Amino acid sequence: MISPESMSALRFRHMRLEDVEQVYAIDVLSFSLPWSERSYRFEVGENENSRVWVAEAVDAQGYSQIVGMTVIWLILDEAHVANIAVHPDFRHLGIGRKLLARGLLDAVAGGATQSFLEVRRGNLNAQTLYQEFGYEVVGVRVGYYSDNREDALLMTLDPIRVDFLREIAPQAGMPGDTPQAEMPGATPQAGMPGATPQTGVPGATPQTGVRGATPQTGVRGATPQTGVRGATPPE
Ligand SMILES: CC(C)(COP(=O)(O)OP(=O)(O)OC[C@H]1O[C@@H](n2cnc3c(N)ncnc32)[C@H](O)[C@@H]1OP(=O)(O)O)[C@@H](O)C(=O)NCCC(=O)NCCS
Repeated sequence: MISPESMSALRFRHMRLEDVEQVYAIDVLSFSLPWSERSYRFEVGENENSRVWVAEAVDAQGYSQIVGMTVIWLILDEAHVANIAVHPDFRHLGIGRKLLARGLLDAVAGGATQSFLEVRRGNLNAQTLYQEFGYEVVGVRVGYYSDNREDALLMTLDPIRVDFLREIAPQAGMPGDTPQAEMPGATPQAGMPGATPQTGVPGATPQTGVRGATPQTGVRGATPQTGVRGATPPE
């Protein structure tokens, strides 16, 4: 196990299938309604509209460990932040901010101009992070989360502030960070004009998930909105 103290570098790269076990472990530590491992495999291997990133800590011996991840669904010009989490031992180090900046810049490269997400009303840490990026609360989904019927706040960022992202992502800080320009694996076709989401609903990714409702799909939260924008809210 790498600790924040023994971490000598931090890399940001696209998630791979072999990362899923570690990513799932972070999800379980982070959410009361975790996605399934299968849903992550789907996001990595099959969902053309999905852009999945990890932050990887590396120590002086060259060992590495996934310490954060984000899943962003890109549909046409909209980037839906479906999931973001940082391992509890590595929080408050700026990793979540950098991950979000990387993911959104990647989405911008694929055609995104705006972004939205859902967040639990009580998740003030995450809301603070999103507000820093310019997200604003534009609506409430009352009783949205199936475990405790907590409300979801719908937050949007329109337009995505690219200059702000560039300020954060290139400085992403520690020695060994992989510059955005060198990031392999982007899928520019995903979410570009002409892409056809299955439901035709912006932001919907019906085959992945709704936490809590459809076990194989990994959706966090409520069922009724499955297939509808916002069906898989991050907490
Ligand atoms: C939300 C989360 C991803 C943030 O990751 P992180 O790496 O700790 O965040 P950062 O260190 O990059 O912090 C970025 C900013 O977020 C805000 N923030 C993060 N943690 C905070 C806290 N405990 N209290 C207040 N603000 C906080 C601050 O504005 C912070 O900036 P600052 O450090 O300059 O004050 C992380 O807390 C997490 O994984 N939470 C559990 C999963 C979750 O809730 N995901 C979001 C679902 S909507």
